[in-house]
Amino acid sequence: MLDWFILTIPIFKVIHIAALVMWCGGLLAMPLMLSRHDPAMLEEDYRLIRQATHLTYTLCVTPAAVTAVIAGTWLIFMRGTFVPWFFAKLAFVALLVFAHAWIGHILTQVAEEPGDHKPPHTLFPVTAVLIPMVVVLTLVLAKPTLDWIVFPNWLIEPRGGQLPFDVPSR
Ligand code: HEM
Repeated sequence: MLDWFILTIPIFKVIHIAALVMWCGGLLAMPLMLSRHDPAMLEEDYRLIRQATHLTYTLCVTPAAVTAVIAGTWLIFMRGTFVPWFFAKLAFVALLVFAHAWIGHILTQVAEEPGDHKPPHTLFPVTAVLIPMVVVLTLVLAKPTLDWIVFPNWLIEPRGGQLPFDVPSR
């Protein structure tokens, strides 16, 4: 039983990393694709670019984000990452999710108000994605102890709840 759980660690890590490459790569590509939106171009070309950005967002980037979060959530319990660097990572993942939602919002506006809405300069959404992405990668690869951060007791003491299965210890 325990062996089976441990085997899922490399599998879910591969899924996690593959999904987040697609997620982060897509989030960087979306603003660049958006910068090609120009209502002044031929209607057919405009429609094609709009469709491409819409399909990339809904069929690739968003499902990849959901997959990365699901696989990452499984890894939390399998790897027991209840440590400060991981909580810091989650805070920056939240920023990445905001950037994801913002890019989706820009896409919708560009689609619904083609003549009136001008997307923000590419640099802004790219920066909004790059900052949390680089910080998350640094945290996850360096795994700093961050032991100067003082947590309240309710965050560091067991609350007495039990998982419905055994968790392998490191
Ligand atoms: C809610 C979202 C996420 C959750 C719950 C999550 C959770 C996790 C967990 C628990 C691990 C295993 C850590 C270990 O084995 O010590 C992991 C590994 C990893 N995560 Fe995430 N993660 C999330 C999002 C991200 C994002 C957005 C990135 C990059 C931009 C990322 C990059 C990585 C990398 C590179 C690893 C492999 C690190 C290693 O094995 O040393 N994760 N993640």
